[in-house]
Amino acid sequence: MNEFILEAKEIYKSFYKTKDEKLNILKGVSLNVERGKISIIVGASGAGKSTLLHILSGLDNADSGEVKLNGRNIFGLNDEKLSIFRNQHIGFVFQFHHLLPEFSAAENIAIPLMISGQSNVKALSRAAELLAFVGLSDRSDHKPAELSGGEQQRIAVARALANNPDIIFADEPTGNLDSANSEVLHGLFSELKKKLGLTFLVATHNPQLVDLGDKIFEMKDGVIQ
Ligand SMILES: Nc1ncnc2c1ncn2[C@@H]1O[C@H](COP(=O)(O)OP(=O)(O)OP(=O)(O)O)[C@@H](O)[C@H]1O
Ligand SMILES: [Mg+2]
Repeated sequence: MNEFILEAKEIYKSFYKTKDEKLNILKGVSLNVERGKISIIVGASGAGKSTLLHILSGLDNADSGEVKLNGRNIFGLNDEKLSIFRNQHIGFVFQFHHLLPEFSAAENIAIPLMISGQSNVKALSRAAELLAFVGLSDRSDHKPAELSGGEQQRIAVARALANNPDIIFADEPTGNLDSANSEVLHGLFSELKKKLGLTFLVATHNPQLVDLGDKIFEMKDGVIQ
């Protein structure tokens, strides 16, 4: 098995500021992410970290370049295949939890499993297992608004884990948390790496989270330095 779970080559991305004015954000980003490790992307605000994570995880298109995830060229997949691929192979944790407000914690975790074709009973039983793993079994029936920020984020991690992804992308996952809750989340990431051999690619400004990194990538002037 290739030691790199993700290989990105020469990624370019620009946005139109006005009809005629183009902002070149990614100017040939290349990086390889090692399997079973925590890799961190740092860089000034506006450097393009979120843009890059969205492209690497198939949430957004690049102008050009190549992304291989577990040897699979994700830019070659059509929208339908890409969403199936994302559902089965990728977990994403955002700065704001993006949980569905009208559903309980358990349902939020179970939904990606139901989408992938599992029965409700099976999906909810896996959700219960994941709730226990993130230490929130007793919050199973709470709606997102009835959870603290730290708890919401742990549910978002549990949801990202639901389908046993190959890699977890996280964009400033502790950006909205106080230091105690950030520590809990960091502990969870380390445990997931150790126990399940999970791979992480995380964009952050948080120095404690940077310290967890086995590998640090710095984004500057549109490239990884
Ligand atoms: N959809 C968009 N349309 C136009 N410009 C955009 C769009 N998305 C991002 N940008 C611009 O691209 C640049 C990079 O944004 P991005 O969110 O990737 O930065 P970042 O490194 O994640 O910053 P932060 O650390 O503040 O989260 C910014 O200047 C932003 O204004
Ligand atoms: Mg960002």
